[in-house]
Amino acid sequence: MKFLRLLLILFIVPVQAQQGGMWIPSLLKGMNETEMKNLGMKMSAEDIYSVNHSSLKDAVPHFNGGCTSEVISPKGLILTNHHCGYDAIQSHSSVDHDYLTDGFWAYKMQDELPNQDLEVTFIVKIEDVTTKVLEGTAGLSSEADKQKKIQENIANLNKTLPKESWQENKIRTFYEGNQYMLFVTETYKDVRLVGAPPSSIGKFGSDTDNWVWPRHTGDFSLFRIYADKNNRPAAYSKDNVPYVPKHFLPVSLDGVAEDDFTMVFGYPGRTSEYLPAVAIEQIVNELNPAKIEVRDKALKVQDGFMRKDNAIKIQYASKYAGIANYWKKWIGETQGLKKSNAVAVKKKQEAEFMVKVAQAGKQAEYGNLLADFEKYYKEIAPYSLSRDYFVEVVLRNTDLTNVAYKMYQLEQILNTKGEQAFNDRKTNLINGLGEFYKDFNAAVDEKVFEQLIDLYAKKSPKEYLPAGLLNINAKSLTAEVYGQSDLTDFRRVQEMLSGDSKTVLSKLNADRAYQLVKEMADQYTKVVAPKYEEINLKIGALQRTYMKGILELNPGARIFPDANSTLRVTYGKVKGYEPKDATIYKPFTYLEGVMEKYVPGDYEFDVPKKLIELYNNKDYGQYGVNGKMPVCFIGTNHTTGGNSGSPAIDAQGNLIGLNFDRVWEGTMSDLYYDPAICRNVMVDARYVLFIMDKFAGAKNLIDELKIVHPKGNKPYYKSRFKHKKRKIKRQ
Ligand code: ARG
Ligand code: ASP
Repeated sequence: MKFLRLLLILFIVPVQAQQGGMWIPSLLKGMNETEMKNLGMKMSAEDIYSVNHSSLKDAVPHFNGGCTSEVISPKGLILTNHHCGYDAIQSHSSVDHDYLTDGFWAYKMQDELPNQDLEVTFIVKIEDVTTKVLEGTAGLSSEADKQKKIQENIANLNKTLPKESWQENKIRTFYEGNQYMLFVTETYKDVRLVGAPPSSIGKFGSDTDNWVWPRHTGDFSLFRIYADKNNRPAAYSKDNVPYVPKHFLPVSLDGVAEDDFTMVFGYPGRTSEYLPAVAIEQIVNELNPAKIEVRDKALKVQDGFMRKDNAIKIQYASKYAGIANYWKKWIGETQGLKKSNAVAVKKKQEAEFMVKVAQAGKQAEYGNLLADFEKYYKEIAPYSLSRDYFVEVVLRNTDLTNVAYKMYQLEQILNTKGEQAFNDRKTNLINGLGEFYKDFNAAVDEKVFEQLIDLYAKKSPKEYLPAGLLNINAKSLTAEVYGQSDLTDFRRVQEMLSGDSKTVLSKLNADRAYQLVKEMADQYTKVVAPKYEEINLKIGALQRTYMKGILELNPGARIFPDANSTLRVTYGKVKGYEPKDATIYKPFTYLEGVMEKYVPGDYEFDVPKKLIELYNNKDYGQYGVNGKMPVCFIGTNHTTGGNSGSPAIDAQGNLIGLNFDRVWEGTMSDLYYDPAICRNVMVDARYVLFIMDKFAGAKNLIDELKIVHPKGNKPYYKSRFKHKKRKIKRQ
């Protein structure tokens, strides 16, 4: 009886799980297209992705590798999130012209600001190349040999598969190595900043509201792609011209209602939806808590300085936001996994998998999988934890150790690749250091280091700690390191890096910070990393076999590949949710909500005067609905990090919003997607246009757009007499 009930649950779950999944755009025909049409979509799969004619995919470039953007005008204007453009906005800011605080708008194209190291990448076509990638691997028994052969094949194919000279071939794996797809891409490197609202709109609610619904953030910024005279990619030049897209998204002013179809098209970074229960347990109980604690300390120190000093606030804004973002996500993820009993659910799924294995007589292939997972996850645990401490403390959250580690790599390069490689890397390193030290404050970093090194020494597994960190006094070690190191000062660092390799290395090795980081890095790269990688390779092979089994034993089931930073389609409906007893969240927020949250002069909840005026006068132009200004909405689209800036698209292919976040109760969706409570958060396209037009007066940009009314709604302003008159006169 119990068993029957178990089976029943397992069969019902996939039926309900209808709207999870991030799908490959070239493979939508069939099951996905049917499902999308049933949800209300009016387009065909060909309208979304086609190699023969322009399609939606031509309007959706990857934004600098980490976010998504969409083309919204025939002149290469692109929209992405404020938090995606944040680095660019920050790098043009100083205490005198603080675009983070005040916003930035180019009212003429000449005023658009070029950005070093900012690029967008379009997908030209997608092709299945699995057979070619796996050629010659069938006979290889060791996992390492197999992976080596695959990497060789990929390198060869990237070189030999046809493409134009300005394009690139990129091959990516899907379903943990069970499928390989080729992406032919075009990368544009002249991308200029066009517009950004002040942070009090673009980052309204900041870290308190981050990952939370109801939300009231106007999280958008605007850029423009520039191309050479042939419309091809080119490095920045003042002679470049606005890019002419194959397709751009019309913007709808009609919005969506609850239960309307929506799709989100973009570049989800990474998910791990098929991990075994034992892996989830480790994340919940060990790895997430460790990382959260490290970041908690780093954030408290930085926050203390930022609140007191405006220059530090600008210097650390982007860094702080980055650290805070995943700190908070891990907290939500851990809570969500516990609350949804993800481990128990996974265990049930595993039991069901084993039943199918037995029924299919596949014990030889899959029978030991789960036991092997148990064994290797247990083995890898201390290495994973050491690795997380090293990465979080040395590489991610302390700047001095981060820069010292880069120099450590420089020394390694000399040892392995020689003088020429050393000099190349050194030049590279020096070029990046200006930017690095611009945002470095020794006093802040010293305090961060003191906290984190203490944690590292106390909590990272003892057996892998370097001798120099055993029984330390964090305070005196910190004073010693920061008091004696030359790495705290850009000028002294430049001095240190001058000269030939021998001179540079002897100076480096005499530096106290370098010595310490070298000891830690040696211990990590020689003891922890090799063992971690060895076990992880085995886990990777198991995961691939598990995935193969899941696909094989559930023919025709709705199984999507984990995110891997490639272009995906996810779809669903506009929908509220009930996160807990007696609590119902509606799917739409309005400007009223901004005003409810308004705290004058507050760090996170201040509201610009101009916006308050527009609100008081209900001056929403054509963007308001029945006297209200929509701000954000949520839906059942399955998204993850990287989907930020992704277009939210209606049934006809028009832009209705901009994806930027997920809801608190659903932050565990990267590991376990529960359609009842996982929602993505989007800023309404009408709010974006309202801010551009009414708040910023950027009519020049509004004029570039194609504004549509797919539902035939009468534009709001036309129903008002005085505007009607003006309209008639114009005609
Ligand atoms: N949580 C969203 C995402 O993962 C938005 C992040 C914006 N950053 C912030 N610290 N508020 O990117
Ligand atoms: N905010 C995320 C991003 O930057 C999106 C998410 O994780 O839901 O891509």
